[in-house]
Amino acid sequence: MKLLESYPLGPMVLPNRMVMAPLTRNRAPGCVPNDLMRQYYVQRASAGLIISEGTQIEPFGQGYQDTPGIYSPEQRDAWRMITGAVHRSRGRIFAQLWHVGRISHSYYHGRAPVAPSAIVPDRGQAYTPEGLKPYETPHALTIPEIRELVAAFRHSASIAKEAGFDGVEVHAANGYLIDQFLQTGSNTRTDEYGGSVQNRTRFLLEVVAAVQSVWTEQRVGVRLSPGAGANGIHDANPVETFGYAASQLDKLRQPLAYLHVVEAPVPTSGPDDHEVCATELLRSKFSGTLISTGGYSPESAERALENERADLIGFGKPFIANPDLPERVRVGATLNAPEVATFYAAGPHGYTDYPSLAVAHSG
Ligand SMILES: Cc1cc2nc3c(=O)[nH]c(=O)nc-3n(C[C@H](O)[C@H](O)[C@H](O)COP(=O)(O)O)c2cc1C
Repeated sequence: MKLLESYPLGPMVLPNRMVMAPLTRNRAPGCVPNDLMRQYYVQRASAGLIISEGTQIEPFGQGYQDTPGIYSPEQRDAWRMITGAVHRSRGRIFAQLWHVGRISHSYYHGRAPVAPSAIVPDRGQAYTPEGLKPYETPHALTIPEIRELVAAFRHSASIAKEAGFDGVEVHAANGYLIDQFLQTGSNTRTDEYGGSVQNRTRFLLEVVAAVQSVWTEQRVGVRLSPGAGANGIHDANPVETFGYAASQLDKLRQPLAYLHVVEAPVPTSGPDDHEVCATELLRSKFSGTLISTGGYSPESAERALENERADLIGFGKPFIANPDLPERVRVGATLNAPEVATFYAAGPHGYTDYPSLAVAHSG
């Protein structure tokens, strides 16, 4: 099976083509990783590559309860315990670098969220430990503040390196800060960060360059979601916006480790409105390694690899419920079903207590 074949990713060799997609699990009280998280990631070390849950690059980048950060010495040391344990279990792990922008709430840090423009998402509400709250009008970032954010991404990349990660993924998907710059529905700036697609892509490219100044090998990935529409995000012409972003990422002097696409239909604009597939759109613009994630079963993933739609397949919910997913695919075992109610809950239930095959058989 192609899913179980090894794959050279930059300087690493992945033992299989099954990537654990980034999954926020809200198990880090105080925003510091802990031993329960170590256990969870070690259980999943047989993935070809683990991409960590989103980790906020600074306190203002947080948008959900108990998500881990990646900016302080304490967080660095706690992550080092996790990466060391994953490596001892012969796994590989990237950190996903995350800033939620306007999806944040003053509950977390006492000030208005930030965004390219002062536009409230037109759908949804902010998650806080006190329940859902209406989104607050974000503060439109000034140019010096944008420079500070690029520096904050660089700082978090160096913390990730000191913490022993194998690389980092820049989270430019799902309606968070970088995506807010990319898409016209959240970016109405009239300076060099808004307007044309070149200007809307500038922040992404500056962040990638900053992160690559820390990670000089091919150890930086980028995640994009051209069609997902998450968190009230939308664009007048996503085919143009994301086609351009992917082609720029393809031309970097220092190549990316990979481009990671969230699979979803992408609406086209114009008289003959139809939809294109996000994976195919980015595949046509980016010549390096492509990870495609979103709704795959082992069977459909295998077909996608056979058809060369993507080089690696990301699994989110299947890895939540199946710590030994590659082994289950190898032996053709039934998959455990994920329990949605515990995705974002506290504690080990629905987190570290999904059985692996050995446990299921002996129990
Ligand atoms: C509980 C949960 C948490 C998620 N957290 C993140 C995250 O932190 N970063 C991210 O880029 N995507 C996140 N996603 C999206 C997943 O990475 C993935 O794209 C999505 O689950 C679709 O893949 P699947 O059908 O294999 O689950 C999350 C999804 C779920 C279900």
